[in-house]
Amino acid sequence: MWLRLDGEGTLHRQLYRALRAEVLSGRLDPGERLPSSRILAEELRLSRNTVLQAVDQLIAEGCLETRGRSGTFVMESLPADLRPADLASSNRSPARSPRELSRFATRLEEIVPSARVAWFQQPGAEIDFRYGEPAYEDLPLTTWSRLVARRAGRLSRRALSYPHVGGVAELREAIASYLGRARGVSCSPEQVLVTAGSQQAIDLAVRMLVDPGRPVVLEEPHYFGFAWSLAAIGARLVPVPVDEQGLCTSQLPRVRVARLACVTPSHQFPRGGVLPLSRRLELLEWARQRGAYILEDDYDSEFRFDVNPVAALQMLDEDGLVIYLGTTSKLLFPSLRIGWMVLPEPLVEPFQKARAVTDAGVPALEQLALADFIEGGFLERYLRRSRRRHAERREALLDALQHEFGPRARVHGEASGLHLLLALEELPADAARAFRNTCRSRGVSVYTANPLYLDPPAHTELLIGYGGLDPAAIREGVRRIRAAFESQTCS
Ligand SMILES: Cc1ncc(COP(=O)(O)O)c(C=O)c1O
Repeated sequence: MWLRLDGEGTLHRQLYRALRAEVLSGRLDPGERLPSSRILAEELRLSRNTVLQAVDQLIAEGCLETRGRSGTFVMESLPADLRPADLASSNRSPARSPRELSRFATRLEEIVPSARVAWFQQPGAEIDFRYGEPAYEDLPLTTWSRLVARRAGRLSRRALSYPHVGGVAELREAIASYLGRARGVSCSPEQVLVTAGSQQAIDLAVRMLVDPGRPVVLEEPHYFGFAWSLAAIGARLVPVPVDEQGLCTSQLPRVRVARLACVTPSHQFPRGGVLPLSRRLELLEWARQRGAYILEDDYDSEFRFDVNPVAALQMLDEDGLVIYLGTTSKLLFPSLRIGWMVLPEPLVEPFQKARAVTDAGVPALEQLALADFIEGGFLERYLRRSRRRHAERREALLDALQHEFGPRARVHGEASGLHLLLALEELPADAARAFRNTCRSRGVSVYTANPLYLDPPAHTELLIGYGGLDPAAIREGVRRIRAAFESQTCS
């Protein structure tokens, strides 16, 4: 098969585009068998993991399918939204098949798998180790609804009008003082910008600070939310490896001019390292020398178990280099869609202008209720309970993993947060898909962490979220994962 890679972005994205074009143009016939991943890798001089990542993506989108051990085939019938115009049904409305979209939209089409759009709405198996949700059992919903109702019942003219694009004053004050108490962040309420979750903050920062083609430092592996926003604007990703302590600051690029480094210093996502002081200082010095900004995503650091709490990187910043991000997604619940950024002073006005253009702010009612929730002490009281609940789940998970896998699985990043990374070195990365299916047939959903790497490892790694499962379900789930693992590694 003749394939030409276009040289834009990561190798697996290039191969994905090339293969997809072959399928959609009809140059690969429906039902045609693809050369094996080994042959494709050899012919194109790519690693096998790169080939598998591209193929996996096309399977997820319904362009390709696997048929047991016979190989990978082009789907006999493509999903309607992928079918080229001459193959699609004639009654398809033109409004549903946009033709001329911008380069930004075209990149999005390539970067974000369709399945991610409604990711959390897709049902998992009976026991679902999905990452991204905290436990909801202890949420003081009665208090929350009382606070919302009270605010809703006496909305003043000011509260009914357009809110400040930076957030309502009450919430910005409450966040500034909470962050000072809980995370050592020092800022004035004016530096706080309330956002629709941290994803909006990431996207905003990336657009405001990076031009297409410019290099940006990204942890390897990394949070997909960073990579999506960066790839969508056409930034050049410069991966810097992480180890058990987080970002390897000694490997930060010395020569290249990077405008931004996207990092998770208090709990590296997904491997869990906590960046020590010496590396924090090295990262700040690196940014200072280059005039670069650091985007600090502090997404779950309230949940620490074996390690002492570490303050935010922002606390050490004396030069206005750090843009700090936080969110209610783990602290409370993700449908609230409220996050915040703390901006160095010179960035406040430019970022507010951007909000005026993009969305003109977050709904005021929830902001006011959240301000009352924080100021009334309910958040910190709830967090104490929530931390205990998560500690119990984490304990159950670690015990079960030790009991079922012993040294055959390596656990990373268990000291904090609501997830851990499980490395299964006996399971090659190309067996991950079959493994996931075997787990699913046993009533368990597991998720691979390999797509979180620009250069994925040769073995399978699982991102295990445990916030949403009680200890009994965790124990049973791990037992079933182990049974699936045995059946896979013995076959
Ligand atoms: C690393 C990281 N950052 C941020 C978030 C939260 O994003 P948001 O506030 O947009 O829900 C998550 C959620 O899972 C995450 O894993």
